[in-house]
Amino acid sequence: MLKLFGALVILGLALACITSWVLDSYDTAWHPKRSVQHPAAGDRDESKGSSPPFPSGELNNIFWFVQVSDIHISRFHDPRRIPDFEKFCTDTIEVIKPALVLATGDLTDAKTESKVGSLQHEVEWQAYHNILKRSRVMERTRWIDIRGNHDAFNIISLDSVNNYYRKYSANQKVGSFHYVHKTPFGNYSFVCADATLTPGPKRPYNFFGILNQTQMDLLDTFRVESLKSNQSIWFGHYTTSTVVSPSPGVRDMMRSAVAYLCGHLHTLGGLMPVLHSRHPQGTLELELGDWMDNRRYRVLAFDHDLLSFSDLRFEQWPAVLITNPKDAQYLHPGVEPLSRIRRSTHIRILAFSEAPITAVHVSIDGEPLGKGHSAGGPLYVLLWDPSLYLTGLHTIRVKVEDSAGRSTVREQHFTLEDDLTPSFGFVQSFILLTDHYILGRVAFIFMMLLNVGVLLAFRFLRVPSGRGLTSQACMSLHLVSKMDTFYYSLLLFNLCTALGPWFIGELIDGHSGACFAFGVFIDGHFLEGSLTYVVGVVQLLFFNMPLTSYLCWSLHHRCRGNTFRSHFLRPGCRWRTLAVHLFMLLLLTWQAHSCYFLLETYGHMAFFLSPVRTWALGLSLLLVYRAWTGPAPLIRENSKSVSPS
Ligand SMILES: *[C@@H]1O[C@H](CO)[C@@H](O)[C@H](O)[C@H]1NC(C)=O
Ligand SMILES: *[C@@H]1O[C@H](CO)[C@@H](O)[C@H](O)[C@H]1NC(C)=O
Ligand SMILES: *[C@@H]1O[C@H](CO)[C@@H](O)[C@H](O)[C@H]1NC(C)=O
Repeated sequence: MLKLFGALVILGLALACITSWVLDSYDTAWHPKRSVQHPAAGDRDESKGSSPPFPSGELNNIFWFVQVSDIHISRFHDPRRIPDFEKFCTDTIEVIKPALVLATGDLTDAKTESKVGSLQHEVEWQAYHNILKRSRVMERTRWIDIRGNHDAFNIISLDSVNNYYRKYSANQKVGSFHYVHKTPFGNYSFVCADATLTPGPKRPYNFFGILNQTQMDLLDTFRVESLKSNQSIWFGHYTTSTVVSPSPGVRDMMRSAVAYLCGHLHTLGGLMPVLHSRHPQGTLELELGDWMDNRRYRVLAFDHDLLSFSDLRFEQWPAVLITNPKDAQYLHPGVEPLSRIRRSTHIRILAFSEAPITAVHVSIDGEPLGKGHSAGGPLYVLLWDPSLYLTGLHTIRVKVEDSAGRSTVREQHFTLEDDLTPSFGFVQSFILLTDHYILGRVAFIFMMLLNVGVLLAFRFLRVPSGRGLTSQACMSLHLVSKMDTFYYSLLLFNLCTALGPWFIGELIDGHSGACFAFGVFIDGHFLEGSLTYVVGVVQLLFFNMPLTSYLCWSLHHRCRGNTFRSHFLRPGCRWRTLAVHLFMLLLLTWQAHSCYFLLETYGHMAFFLSPVRTWALGLSLLLVYRAWTGPAPLIRENSKSVSPS
């Protein structure tokens, strides 16, 4: 799934360039050199940054918390995953002592052994539950676990017995919620945006989440409530780019938050080790790599209302987080009191390790400043003079050593100017900030119109005369469009891809439904199309269009008097001919594989009642057979028809 998504991102990048001008809402989101806007500033006290408290040499006005995502507890794969996670809950949490932990979805894997089908396994949930119980992590910190798409596979309603999240999770709260973390120095809002599908179809058609208007209204009340807090963090499983939501959209909803924390994309199978970006509204979107294969987790801290974080790997100690001065890349001038950095007295660093910390070396712009000293707990501080760094971008480098002889170096840029925030990479922003379902929809409609348009046009155009390469290509399109068998078959097939059901089957065990390009119906519920458009684009690109081209090519050969055997034996063109046939064979194999995939994911009914997969495979075999064995077509130039000879 993720490799497919990765490949599609590359395809999408190309399509994006074409469609960008169509959708001007993308304009701001894509512009990497855009300066940060602060629409949320009006919501809050603007003079905040210049008022105390200022970061000093004491352990105060700070708390830290942890995020872990995409754990995928599995009964079949990677036997280390469960014991490692238990060690995380016991040892890592014991070392870090976070105020709270956010487990942002996909707690269990919920797949069949072949990794193709999906269903909820109670044993996976029990394994998760047992880890929470045995490690007693819920007594040591506040454990907030939410559902991801895998935790919603094959669940018809939230009350159904196989919604094990209700029974085995720590949180057991379905739907969005607002949690306020209260401290003596301030209140901090954590808003969960739960976009998992209800009902939850089996994979792959729940790769995108949906927030309907009712859910958005609820989120809006949380947004208003959270304005009372010092800062707010939003979190969820899906990236905002994989959530379908009514305009003005889910990014606009979280505009007053300093950051949105999510998972879901798993570093795109290693293609994108870091997926961070910034919404046009200023909110940071921080995707976290998975626990499943990469054993990632994240430590975040609010230090004097400034957010900082560090993406870490399990068992790599010491873990280091520089909270003041915070990383220039992740400043949010709209909601953070940034001038506190200018008025701070100390550099502040959180350092965690299993063994005692022995040294914290600090240097700025290559110049050693000295060693930090402990201010209590994991906080290390060092006196500094911020007025030396008032302009430009600077580099702070911290090296932490522990008594086990391990060390970690952390280097980051900082700036004391408000408007010198470096921008994020184009590809990261494209992946996180594009509404991929809109892009998919636009691409699908465009290619469908092209496909059907060409068939219709050549049906009613006159056959031209001429011998050039273009007119040869046109000629073959005339052949396909003017022979009724091919024209009606292809037209019907394309229209079915566009409007008809792709398949009818058990989208959830015991509940049938139908899948269309524009969405999925299950048991009277409708889930708006999203991944379906992307799958539709792939279907058009790798089956409908090549099939049409191959039929054109074949009929063209037949028209020139060749048979399947004779055109093969023509000297000179043998290899090219062979290549074309092999390519078609490859595409037919791919279509056959899609049929098998359908059988594995949605069962027998879906396999047999599938116009766009199984039936299409049969139809295409018939058409190919017919093209080579039927009567050879004869073209009369400047006429509107083609007749069999
Ligand atoms: C949190 O907000 C309260 C009320 O505005 C303020 O008094 C307090 O100083 C803030 N806390 C921090 C750490 O800035
Ligand atoms: C936090 O919220 C409570 C009410 O829930 C309020 O009484 C308290 O003053 C708030 N604390 C700060 C520092 O704003
Ligand atoms: C929105 O979704 C929720 C939960 O899935 C559902 O209960 C509610 O009826 C939906 N509202 C609308 C307007 O579709």
